[in-house]
Amino acid sequence: GAAVEVDISNLKEGEKLTVEWRGKPVWIIKRTPEQLKDLPTLDGELADPKSERHPDEFTPVYARNDLRSIKPEVLVVVGICTHLGCSPTDKFHSGPQPSLPNDWKGGFLCPCHGSTFDMAGRVFKNKPAPDNLQVPPHMYLSDTRLLIG
Ligand code: FES
Repeated sequence: GAAVEVDISNLKEGEKLTVEWRGKPVWIIKRTPEQLKDLPTLDGELADPKSERHPDEFTPVYARNDLRSIKPEVLVVVGICTHLGCSPTDKFHSGPQPSLPNDWKGGFLCPCHGSTFDMAGRVFKNKPAPDNLQVPPHMYLSDTRLLIG
């Protein structure tokens, strides 16, 4: 099969690991406690905060929660914009930055047409991307070993 096993034991808070799965980049990100605290406050600004659009395609049942993840701190998403397939850029730091709102809480910015996503890969309202970033099928083999696919 095309499943990919990943050891995340060295992944530190605030860091991202990229692995390839079926020719696509998959990001594994260990979110900080502050980022996790901010996520539920963003729901009103998001196009699909509860991941209800096309859930079978974009959000497996075990990730249909506010954090879109199995382990609260670890986000696993396909790093491809749901608009036309560019790869969004990390904008993990909060605060004012070019092309981002002043109250930015961390997430991703697509360089192609400006779609923005939060630290759960949820797309903000009124952006060209129609869907949240895809959470690929995955499971934990142990506390630090992840199987994607
Ligand atoms: Fe990302 Fe268009 S491809 S906004």
